[in-house]
Parts: sequence; C-alpha cells; structure tokens
Amino acid sequence: MATSPANIPPTLKGRVLIVGATGFMGKFVAEASLSSAHATFLLLRPGPIISSKASIVKAFQDKGARVIYGVVNNKELMEKILKEYEIDIVISAIGAESLMDQLTLVEAMKSVKSIKRFLPSEFGHDVDRADPVEPGLAMYKEKRLVRRVIEQSGVPYTYICCNSIASWPYYDNCHPSQLPPPLDQLHIYGDGRVQAYFIDGYDIGKFTMKVVDDVRTINKNVHFRPPTNCYSMNGLASLWEKKLGRKIPRVTVSEDDLLGIAAENCIPESIVASITHDIFINGCQVKFHIDGIHDVEIGTLYPGEEFRSLEDCFGDFVHMAVDNNINNNNNNHKGENGGGVTTTTATAGTKKTLIEAVPITASC
Ligand SMILES: NC(=O)c1ccc[n+]([C@@H]2O[C@H](COP(=O)([O-])OP(=O)(O)OC[C@H]3O[C@@H](n4cnc5c(N)ncnc54)[C@H](OP(=O)(O)O)[C@@H]3O)[C@@H](O)[C@H]2O)c1
Repeated sequence: MATSPANIPPTLKGRVLIVGATGFMGKFVAEASLSSAHATFLLLRPGPIISSKASIVKAFQDKGARVIYGVVNNKELMEKILKEYEIDIVISAIGAESLMDQLTLVEAMKSVKSIKRFLPSEFGHDVDRADPVEPGLAMYKEKRLVRRVIEQSGVPYTYICCNSIASWPYYDNCHPSQLPPPLDQLHIYGDGRVQAYFIDGYDIGKFTMKVVDDVRTINKNVHFRPPTNCYSMNGLASLWEKKLGRKIPRVTVSEDDLLGIAAENCIPESIVASITHDIFINGCQVKFHIDGIHDVEIGTLYPGEEFRSLEDCFGDFVHMAVDNNINNNNNNHKGENGGGVTTTTATAGTKKTLIEAVPITASC
C-alpha cells in the first residue's frame, strides 16, 4: 500500500528516499536505512511487480518502510514527492540501464532546494579514475556525466566508491555474490597478482547509511578500502581452497581473453568482462592514492567500526555451495528468468554451464 504524507511521524534523522530498493544493491541500502532508524521511503515504479520483488517490498514495509509510486524521470512528480514527503536524503541504486534517468531527478532536487544529500547510483569504482574498455566505458561515461550534472546543480552529494562486492568475481555475472565461488575450476585473471577490495553487501549498506548524515562526506568520494578485504585472484583462490579443504584446478584467463569477451559486446556480460579487465589487469582499484581534497577513506571516518572480513564471507559461500549442489543434484532449480548463469571456460566464446541459476539483470 502506498504512503500518504499525512501519516508520517516526525524523525530526528534525515528522511531517506531510496530509488532501486528492489535491486541487487538497493536491497542492502534499504535494509541498512531501516536498521539505522532513518524514516525510509521507497520509490517504486508503478505497474505489475514480480512476486520475488513483491516479497522484498513487503518485508521492508513490515520493518517500517513507506512505499511511494513514481519514476525518477518525471520532474514534476519527483518535485511533488520530495516536497510532500519532506525528503532530506535521496539515494539512488538505479540499475545500469537507467542511469541517465537520474538527470531529471537532479533537476527536481535542484528545484526543490531542500535536499541535504544525494547519493547517485555509483556503488563501485571511482569512475573518474577507472578506465575500462568498452562497453564498460559507456556505462562509466554515463556515471561521470551524472556526477558533473550533480556538481553543477549545487545539491550536496556523496559518491560511494565501495569497490567490488564480496564474492568470487565472475567475469560474466553482474551480481556475483548470489553464487558461491566455483567448485570445479578457478579462473585466474592475468598473473593473478593484482589486488582489489571485496566488501560484504551488508557493510556497503551499513557504511552508506553512516555517511548520509555525516558532514565530513559532503561533496566527497568515499572509498571503501578495508585492509582485511584486499585480495588478489591468487589469494581469493587460496582462501576458497582453504574453506573447502581441498585444491581446485586453476585456469588462466588472459588479458586477451577478457578483452575478447568485452569486444563481443554482449550486454551485460561484456560490461562485466571489461570491468573485470580494468580491476584485475589494470589494477583500477589500487593504482591511485586517496589524497585528493574530494577523497576520504571510510576507515578514517569510523576507526572503531570493523568491516566483515572476506574470510567470514567465504564461510557463508561454503553453505551456499552445498545447498546449490543439492539443488543441482535434484535437478529442480531454475532462476526467476528460467535460465541459468553460464560461466565461460578460459577461451573466449566457448560457453559451458558450470553453475546453475541466477538471473543476470544489470551491470556492475
Ligand atoms: N560494486 C559491485 O560489485 C556492484 C555490483 C552490482 C551493481 N553495482 C552498481 O550498483 C548500482 C545498482 O545496480 P544493480 O545491479 O543493483 O541494479 P538492479 O539489480 O538492476 O536494480 C535496479 C533497480 O532500479 C530500479 N529502477 C530502474 N529504473 C528505474 C527508474 N527509471 N525509476 C525508478 N526505479 C528504477 C529497478 O526497479 P524495478 O524493480 O522496477 O525494476 C530496481 O529496483 C549500479 O550503479 C551498479 O553499477 C555494483
């Protein structure tokens, strides 16, 4: 049921409007917003909603979220919503295919003049510093354009540069934490020595909600670089083997393999391949120091707060792998879209299904 502005109790913390709360990243943010006692409003697109998303929304409503129906690319409607619900903070976790819709949202926020913070749909790399090949580059160009428009609008902003989600970094899956790491062979990108940061989804949500009211993060890039979560592909492979208590064959996926998959321009898999290339060949997460006047590392803001270690996260994946195996053996599990994720072998273009079933819906 949608919320009426009259029913909203007063709150000390900023009122948060989340766009994309039914999505992969948005769910973590919405969960954290509710846990952090912010009055939480979810902007949902009107129209039919698939049952799994309806259950997510219901679970959020049960925890106190209020639902508002609307689309971000309707300026008048967004102005009305922002004013009527007295929204202070807007967080967008809109999917990659709709990034440009945020331009209208920025116009609406500029016009109402009351927004204290906007977090656009970033939740990955510092897109001004990272430099993937196409088609990842096209997505980064859109994120960069959204940044420039926000900066010109005068709306206070924060860019969440949380790096990679804690998971095995499959090069063709935008939502890799929905799968355990492979059990049959481990793809190692390049020489396997380039490092990256892997952050648990829960922590992405939790720390995002800490920065939204923090004056130290106004107009900053907030980088997530916890030392406990910095791993190379070789390190990730060893961690997974340690968790399983056995060795798994390692297969090199070369720079040319990744570039070849990116060049196939198959969306969204090629976007993921191009970003995988930028992370594990170019070192886009670690090749710069965080010393600009617009940069801040989250650990320096909240030194007493620990991140969940990747070691812990990989413990969860052992259970997930066991469950997946049982499901695969029963041969009765299909993803929402009725299809399975395919991971490819080391040779670009030769596809082989290794692990069953989650839908690919967007890009990271
Ligand atoms: N760091 C990482 O490892 C990582 C991984 C994945 C994603 N990301 C980033 O996280 C962000 C979100 O991506 P995602 O994969 O979570 O997206 P997603 O799962 O595809 O979800 C997109 C969400 O946006 C909503 N949406 C799309 N267009 C909209 C519109 N015009 N108006 C209102 N709502 C709209 C969708 O609503 P419906 O339910 O109506 O479709 C859905 O809730 C992106 O910037 C992406 O690059 C980062």
